[in-house]
Amino acid sequence: LVLYATCILLVVSSLYVLRHFADSRRNLPPGPPSWPLIGNLLDLGALPHRSLARLAERHGPLMTLRLGALTTVIASTADTARDVLQRHDAAFSARSVPDAVRACAYDSLSMGWLPPSSPHWRALRKLCSGELFAPHRLDAHQSIRREKVQQLVSHVDRLSREGAPVDISLVVFTTALNLLSCTIFSADIADLDDIGGSGQFMAVISESLQVAGQPNLSDFFPAVAPLDPQRLRKRLAVGFKRLHAILDEQIERRMRERTAGEPPKNDFMDVLLDYRGLEDGRGLDREMLRALLMDLFIAGSDTSAATFEWAMAELLQNPSSMAKAREELAQVIGSRSEIEESDIGQLKYLQAIVKEVFRLHPPAPLLLPRQAEATTELRGYMVPKGARVMVNVWAIGRDGELWSEPERFMPERFLGKDMDYRGRDFELLPFGSGRRICPGMPLAMRMVHLMLATLLYRFEWKLPKEVEENGVDMGEKFGIVLALATPLEALAEPV
Ligand code: HEM
Repeated sequence: LVLYATCILLVVSSLYVLRHFADSRRNLPPGPPSWPLIGNLLDLGALPHRSLARLAERHGPLMTLRLGALTTVIASTADTARDVLQRHDAAFSARSVPDAVRACAYDSLSMGWLPPSSPHWRALRKLCSGELFAPHRLDAHQSIRREKVQQLVSHVDRLSREGAPVDISLVVFTTALNLLSCTIFSADIADLDDIGGSGQFMAVISESLQVAGQPNLSDFFPAVAPLDPQRLRKRLAVGFKRLHAILDEQIERRMRERTAGEPPKNDFMDVLLDYRGLEDGRGLDREMLRALLMDLFIAGSDTSAATFEWAMAELLQNPSSMAKAREELAQVIGSRSEIEESDIGQLKYLQAIVKEVFRLHPPAPLLLPRQAEATTELRGYMVPKGARVMVNVWAIGRDGELWSEPERFMPERFLGKDMDYRGRDFELLPFGSGRRICPGMPLAMRMVHLMLATLLYRFEWKLPKEVEENGVDMGEKFGIVLALATPLEALAEPV
């Protein structure tokens, strides 16, 4: 037995030494020592953005991890993020596709996962930038956002009269979904007054983001991917099919209306059905339509709801910031009852709050994973072709070299500072940067500011007694979107 154990030990340690020797010859960025076969998988933990930030403090701003067979390079400072997302944007703008999102072949049609070399990806980005997120389109859809925010106010008002707490993420998620669905196909997809009944769509979206963000053996050991050992691809396929059914219903309804000669609605669905911008003047077929609608709903709702929930969690624990925001609103809005999007430019403190929330709680803490298209030199190291490349924007937001008292919620740090989140300042990158930057950012920013301004202006907020006594649980739940592990509930009092 001793001989047997000694042999195993010898084999393992030789593999270990050989691996290190090979790595140093390949000139990979440094990283923690890794075990044969599993590599650094055990280093990831339940909250990988935090574990990776801790490892980067020891191993440097550009670090290599072995996740099973997958070589992963992580950039953890503003400078290394600039290298990946700007200087070498072309080399790193393909995606490292998680096996789970191959469910129903979603990755082969999705804007979020196709490589930029794909003409379909370019056509989708152009279509969305021009027809959905361009300033004139967003201005034209302003009345929809006003109406949806008004419905949110009425709902919160009703809960406050009943003395019931508001589940912040749930009501904002529902509002964001309806705002998107009304912009896209002129109909609500969820019901604020019957969240249980309409919750299926929301549940599938939240689960999709959580499942797709989970560490998956199929990604780390491609040989076992066909077996889908954690059943993540299977789980996503079930959810995707439910989404398909809901979206198909909307698509078919519109097609019937158009065949019956009903007047156009002039919404995004009409644009999509008339679109002939693919190669050879082709339009989008049913599978392409579904994938695009899924991209928009999946990428647009949970991210906005998470931003809002973190903002409220911080404000409820920092009453002086909450009071300053409300004073500013009183000054700028005066005696008007409704806030317009055109007011947002004057709400400097509110804007600073949103930036501070993005710094401390970026909804996508590791952005979406990139992949090296070719072996690329980065800061004197070589990032091998096929490596997964990630940017830890969560770590950048808490970098003590960039921010004073980085753990403290202090919106004032942004006042009078010309720093933005639009992908030019690498200290603050909630939407990423470069050609893969979030295309929905212009809509997201209007939604988040308008909802936050309105709910702070129309209501006074406090924590339920037991939460007040025990403190807000700021624990995190990791997925592609980083959410609060315990949903935040708060009591609203109309003003
Ligand atoms: C991609 C963040 C809202 C649609 C992304 C990425 C991030 C992000 C970090 C990946 C960027 C990269 O890899 O560099 C956010 C945040 C939001 C938000 C923080 C809200 C606060 C939205 C909205 C939509 C949207 C409202 C659309 C309705 C997309 C799409 C992609 C994307 C389609 C994939 C783009 C591609 O890979 O080419 N988003 N997003 N996002 N986002 Fe957003």
